[in-house]
Amino acid sequence: MTISLAVTTAAKLTPTLDQIAQELSALLNSPYVPRMGRSLPDIFEASEASRLLVAGADHLRLYDGASGAEYFYHPNMFLSRGSVILAGGPDHFLSAVDLSPGETLLDCTLGFASESALASLALGGTAKVVGLESEPVLAEITRRGLQTFVLRSAPLTAALRRIEVVTADNRLYLEFCETNAFDVVYFDPFFDERLSGSEASISPLFVFGNPAPLSPDAVENARRVARRCVVIKHPGHIELPGPISQWVTKTHGGRKSRVVYSVLENLSEG
Ligand SMILES: C[S@@+](CC[C@H](N)C(=O)[O-])C[C@H]1O[C@@H](n2cnc3c(N)ncnc32)[C@H](O)[C@@H]1O
Repeated sequence: MTISLAVTTAAKLTPTLDQIAQELSALLNSPYVPRMGRSLPDIFEASEASRLLVAGADHLRLYDGASGAEYFYHPNMFLSRGSVILAGGPDHFLSAVDLSPGETLLDCTLGFASESALASLALGGTAKVVGLESEPVLAEITRRGLQTFVLRSAPLTAALRRIEVVTADNRLYLEFCETNAFDVVYFDPFFDERLSGSEASISPLFVFGNPAPLSPDAVENARRVARRCVVIKHPGHIELPGPISQWVTKTHGGRKSRVVYSVLENLSEG
């Protein structure tokens, strides 16, 4: 089925919301359908769109007509994992990327940006963390969420604000990216199998995200772009495709965790 998007507003219309919805409509090249007191099912019917982006007073909400799934920005597991880090606790992702002050990270599969936010927290005020998201509507929801969402902890909120979102497919972006442009390049793609009980298994990202499997060409380019290492998150019992598994130099993950972080170190690093 072809996916089509329309933009509308929350039921309680204000001039600001109307303006935001019109901006989003232009940005995402999708028709704006004025709400005019109608229910969302009525807007779905009137627009004939398969998805609706609703501009509300606090945030944007994305709805899928067929599945009923709903997506909006929230910090996801950054809230719990970030709090552990602030309390001096460990994190497998941060152990794998092993960032030093002043380093930079390119996240090739941004989603909710939870892991980008962990990197930003670890790097502090000078952090340069860039996140790529191929789905324009998800990129826009995350971009606005990262700039406006307020957490109780000021350092956690500040970590969100430092992430730069780029709407791009990582395969194309990496192809044209300069050699050694980032210290670390990170991938967290979808794998065929969902791990039951894992944070990802219940995520609406499964409905709205790009399901493309990890591309060996993209990883090969990432090895050129990463000055120090490429890190890939994947289910521990699934072998990475093609030549990628031969480039893995170490793996991080607890004995109990079903997800691991494979590290592809740049052994030529001077
Ligand atoms: C499993 S989720 C990543 C979750 C993320 N680590 C987080 O903390 O929320 C994968 C995300 O990457 C995006 N994605 C998948 N393939 C991509 C590609 N080729 N280029 C850019 N983004 C991609 C998907 O749309 C989805 O949002």
